[in-house]
Amino acid sequence: MRTALLVLITGVVGVLSGCKSQAPPIDYAPMGTLRDVMNGVVDPSADFLWNSVSTVVTAKGTERKEPRTDEDWKQAHNHAVALVEATNLLLVPGRHIARPGEKSGQPRFRAIPGRHRRHDGQGPGHVP
Ligand code: HEM
Repeated sequence: MRTALLVLITGVVGVLSGCKSQAPPIDYAPMGTLRDVMNGVVDPSADFLWNSVSTVVTAKGTERKEPRTDEDWKQAHNHAVALVEATNLLLVPGRHIARPGEKSGQPRFRAIPGRHRRHDGQGPGHVP
């Protein structure tokens, strides 16, 4: 009886460990370029957060801007989520930095050669 129980337990453990599900490979299909992600997600969310607190001092007095209502905080939270999650978008394999020949909206990037190359380590557009 004891032996039968041991065999049963060993069998169940064996079957369960054999059933360990293998994570399926994830296919990525990046549509936008890294510049699209910057201009469409990162920059607007960063601007929202940076501009959400300010102090303006004029002759009329001091005006403080900061999130006050639940709705204000909800919006700040949403932009923070978008900004943090955008870092995952930067890591998606195969995403191009920009379209071939596309000029950057940032003048200081224009002179950098090869930035239209892939950022997956295959070219000078690689993001470390
Ligand atoms: C709050 C942080 C960030 C802001 C506000 C920001 C904003 C921008 C903006 C406005 C552009 C220009 C897009 C254009 O040319 O039209 C840009 C380009 C770019 N950003 Fe960001 N970025 C941030 C963080 C990052 C991070 C963390 C990385 C990489 C780890 C990154 C990588 C790049 C690359 C590779 C480009 C393209 C450069 C090129 O065109 O040669 N950025 N970013």
